[in-house]
Amino acid sequence: MDSFPLGGLSVARIGFGAMQLPGPGVFGPPRDHDEAVAVLRRAVELGVDHIDTAQFYGPDIANELIREALHPYPENLALVSKVGGRRDETGGWLAVPDPADLRRDLEANLRTLGVDQLAAVNLRLMDGGAPDQLFDDQLSVMIDARDEGLIGGIGLSSISREHLLHALGRTDIVCVQNAFNLVDRSSAAVLDECTARGIAFVPFFPLGASFSHPNPVLGNHVVQSIAEGLGHTPAQVVLAWTLSVAPNVLLIPGTSSVRHLEENVAVASIELDDDTREQLNAVAG
Ligand SMILES: NC(=O)c1ccc[n+]([C@@H]2O[C@H](COP(=O)([O-])OP(=O)(O)OC[C@H]3O[C@@H](n4cnc5c(N)ncnc54)[C@H](OP(=O)(O)O)[C@@H]3O)[C@@H](O)[C@H]2O)c1
Repeated sequence: MDSFPLGGLSVARIGFGAMQLPGPGVFGPPRDHDEAVAVLRRAVELGVDHIDTAQFYGPDIANELIREALHPYPENLALVSKVGGRRDETGGWLAVPDPADLRRDLEANLRTLGVDQLAAVNLRLMDGGAPDQLFDDQLSVMIDARDEGLIGGIGLSSISREHLLHALGRTDIVCVQNAFNLVDRSSAAVLDECTARGIAFVPFFPLGASFSHPNPVLGNHVVQSIAEGLGHTPAQVVLAWTLSVAPNVLLIPGTSSVRHLEENVAVASIELDDDTREQLNAVAG
């Protein structure tokens, strides 16, 4: 599988996102605990060496499952988390922008995952807006954590191109995690900037997410007809397209199923021809 640098490591371009492992709504324990553990172990068996997680997936559940399934971790495994959010007692998503909270949450990730360092941690912005003093204060927390060796590199998530350029004026950024998929290319300018600078771009919601019904990506009729013609699944077609967009794209599709995981990792050996890519490029959002 092709690889790309991430936080001092080199990772396969197809990784795994742990957000689907907790229960419905990313809240509480998984529907099937043993399957969740099996997904993680099978991912590593298949060569996945990049797992994306967050303390607020569950909360706590995704990190606990990763530790249960994989600790002691393979040496080359890049564990990547994010800070900037928490959950309330009913599963509501809370913004946690305070720099002191970011540091506490970053340390909580290290503790629950049982590591001294994470390959990267993404500063997840919840409120958009332009780069401001708060963003600078948040960046300072990330820079200190990196300089103290708690994280291999700093990532940014749900950011604009302006945030990226502002942050780069102060420090190195190793990855950017924004929503991006076949029908949502609103982060194309951020992706282009990352590509030009050799920064990993890690799209979230590559398969259209678990929140939208019907799924706007997997349910797209162009995707479905291409999948049928090629004998692949719709998920494989969209993941292969996403990988083909730029060499710095690292995939972290999320799944709670071993069957889906195996399908997704198999995309490493699927190459779309130019005509198919053109048809998919033309799909409008
Ligand atoms: N930085 C951020 O703010 C942020 C936000 C959201 C997500 N993320 C990260 O990005 C990762 C990916 O996003 P996501 O998991 O939300 O959405 P996603 O990968 O776009 O889609 C996940 C959905 O696709 C289904 N799925 C997975 N593989 C499939 C397959 N082969 N065939 C059919 N359906 C399939 C899953 O269901 P099954 O479980 O049934 O397979 C789930 O419903 C997350 O896991 C998380 O690590 C980051």
